[in-house]
Amino acid sequence: MRLSGKHIVLGLTGSIAAYKAAYLLRGLVKEGAEVQVVMTPSAKEFITPVTMSALSGKPVASEFFSANDGSWYSHVDMGQWADLVLIAPATASTIGKMAHGICDNLLLTTYMSAKCPVMVAPAMDLDMFSHPANQANLDILHSYGNLIIEPGDGELASGLHGKGRMQEPEIILEEVVRFFDQKKKLLNKHFLVTAGPTHEKIDPVRFIGNYSSGKMGYAIANELAACGAKVTIVSGPVHIKITNPEITIIPVESASEMYEHCLRIFPETDGAVMCAAVADFTPEKYSATKFKRGKYGLLIQLKPTTDIAAELGQLKSENQIVVGFALETNDELQNAYSKLSKKNLDFIVLNSMNDDGAGFGVNTNKITIIDRDNNPTFFELKSKAEVAKDIVARVVSEIGKKQEKRH
Ligand code: C5P
Repeated sequence: MRLSGKHIVLGLTGSIAAYKAAYLLRGLVKEGAEVQVVMTPSAKEFITPVTMSALSGKPVASEFFSANDGSWYSHVDMGQWADLVLIAPATASTIGKMAHGICDNLLLTTYMSAKCPVMVAPAMDLDMFSHPANQANLDILHSYGNLIIEPGDGELASGLHGKGRMQEPEIILEEVVRFFDQKKKLLNKHFLVTAGPTHEKIDPVRFIGNYSSGKMGYAIANELAACGAKVTIVSGPVHIKITNPEITIIPVESASEMYEHCLRIFPETDGAVMCAAVADFTPEKYSATKFKRGKYGLLIQLKPTTDIAAELGQLKSENQIVVGFALETNDELQNAYSKLSKKNLDFIVLNSMNDDGAGFGVNTNKITIIDRDNNPTFFELKSKAEVAKDIVARVVSEIGKKQEKRH
């Protein structure tokens, strides 16, 4: 019984895949989970509450009030009770409402009240799934720290073929088990993650910056938290919203502010993942008034910033790890390894500007991890969320090695 003692809210929405939720529910209960089913009004058109309540051994929650005795289903209580909210199947409509805070049924209010992680298994036709509106909504859910169970590719209820069918119940069940298992991997650990660009002020209206979106760093923070760690992100200016009680965000603007916070936080942590694209140079002087257009060019003298990763690499204790990134355009492996040595890192994640789909702004990345013995491990082009899993798996194994050494 791999889920005994776990409290799961299983949310059903109005999709033909709702019948598969009965198998999923059976699987969850067989593994020992206590499951409270919440159905949207349209889910009841596809499968009856009687089936779900018989399988879960509990009345199904669907309306805010019981029609019989007026008793109130508290979405707040359910949200607090749950160790996991699992919405399977999730229609495009429910995904859209979740992304935008529309709470017109009990499942959506429960979602918004939940303090625990949320997993979403989309189920819809291929064109609906790939529609930019749905993809943008899934990106929003992802930025909230919700875990998306990618739909399968295959035959759809419409008779069409493509990506959109809800993942099979056995696969969702394994994802749930994996989710609870991996929570133990970095339990009681605390990590510092730097993310995003820095802005180095020139005058009150101008700065030197770069194209970093922060997506990679935030994906790593999410994955560390999914493995049970507490995470502090020291983040340059980005457009990412994140709600995860295990993740604290310290917003900063410049490299020197980022350095100050990292220096303060690092001693309390088990390690740091330095994902930020920190400016290497900052203006020597800041002009308190705006530079005016003139006949001549403007010369701005720059001075180097502190290399935060290198500083933490020097400061780290035997029990701590520091992970760096290298974004290279040439002699990639060589340059990355020399950074690892110079900064005293435990491993370095290389991405090359020469690889399509890798680097700034995009949702995908292609990495190579290089260790202290200069052994490279090459990875395929993947979504940043998947890349984060590969990086965090290496963090888990490095932390494990440190622990072994101590014993
Ligand atoms: O030397 P380079 O800037 O290419 O090294 C990249 C790595 O060093 C990244 O991990 C980045 O987050 C980190 N870095 C830093 N502080 C700087 C510059 C880079 O932490 N000032």
